[in-house]
Amino acid sequence: MVGSVLLQRMREENDFALIEPLFFSTSNVGAAAPPFAKNEIKLKDAYELQALKQCDIIITCQGGDYTAEIFPKLRAAGWDGYWIDAASSLRMNEDAVIILDPVNADVIQAALGRGIKNYIGGNCTVSLMLMALGGLFHAGLIEWVSAMTYQAASGAGAQNMRELLQQMGVLYGAANQSLADPAAAILDIDRSVLAAMNSEQMPVAQFGAPLAGSLLPWIDQDLGQGVSREEWKGAAETNKILGKPSLGMVGSIPVDGICVRIGAMRCHAQAMTIKLTQDVPLAEIENILAAANDWVQVVPNERAASLSQLTPAAVTGKLSVPVGRLRKPAMGAQYLCAFTVGDQLLWGAAEPLRRMLRILLA
Ligand code: HSE
Repeated sequence: MVGSVLLQRMREENDFALIEPLFFSTSNVGAAAPPFAKNEIKLKDAYELQALKQCDIIITCQGGDYTAEIFPKLRAAGWDGYWIDAASSLRMNEDAVIILDPVNADVIQAALGRGIKNYIGGNCTVSLMLMALGGLFHAGLIEWVSAMTYQAASGAGAQNMRELLQQMGVLYGAANQSLADPAAAILDIDRSVLAAMNSEQMPVAQFGAPLAGSLLPWIDQDLGQGVSREEWKGAAETNKILGKPSLGMVGSIPVDGICVRIGAMRCHAQAMTIKLTQDVPLAEIENILAAANDWVQVVPNERAASLSQLTPAAVTGKLSVPVGRLRKPAMGAQYLCAFTVGDQLLWGAAEPLRRMLRILLA
């Protein structure tokens, strides 16, 4: 799925005009490459090291298992090209940079200068948070962030998106007849829906539990101490992206929260409470946020604007990253509340990869 979005974005931006692409597949070797292929019009074998070694730059969205298997073999075979991927396998390695150039172009340029060859897209939630709050991080105004997430089904994969819709269908099926009868009691409808949600009919093979009509307050592995892997990435990746020391060391920024899966399709949202390093007026904060990059969009903290601009329904398919609900909360003037939404398949996955290619070609 990320691969499809990547190809779509690369076509939209005419990236293929600048390269001689070879297309690889793990499952469909020998089939026709995409129509915009140039000289190599058949899919090559993504496990064939000799073919991969021909490439100066490899971009892959195949996933962590593929990276873990192929990347070390390629390097061991002497391949010295640039590796760009979206998986978490290499992200925290010393010789890898997490790429999000609107936020860390300086870190990327410094790494290129040092001869680093591995450039890895970050966790989607982290990347979207940094796209939204980049201005405050760069201004040194963030002491810590608590980010409570509302993550879409797409973050778990294409099959999960399908399962979410199937679950919705089961719930609708259970309520359908009564809904058509205006006299039907809502508590009876609710009872039927709940029975369907917890019945054998409800498909849960992907999520392991009902998501439609519910939510899942745990994402990814259990790392122990009550922390999910998705939550651990918050601080680990944020600090690495910003070129700061690891969490716990002087100069690092604590980022923590509870990561929750909700029934959105492909937009992750997060509600953030931020401790500022100083009391900065709200208007100034809005200016700093808005000026940080071309995609962040400050939404006025008003009901109509929030409901029309700050939702997955409004943001899906767009590169803009709106941030709103900005206000100083009851905790005090040195705190800030914010809410942000972003398409996790764009800035959260495909976009940083194609932009890294452009940086290498510049
Ligand atoms: N781990 C994220 C999620 C997706 O499950 O939503 C990719 O970073």
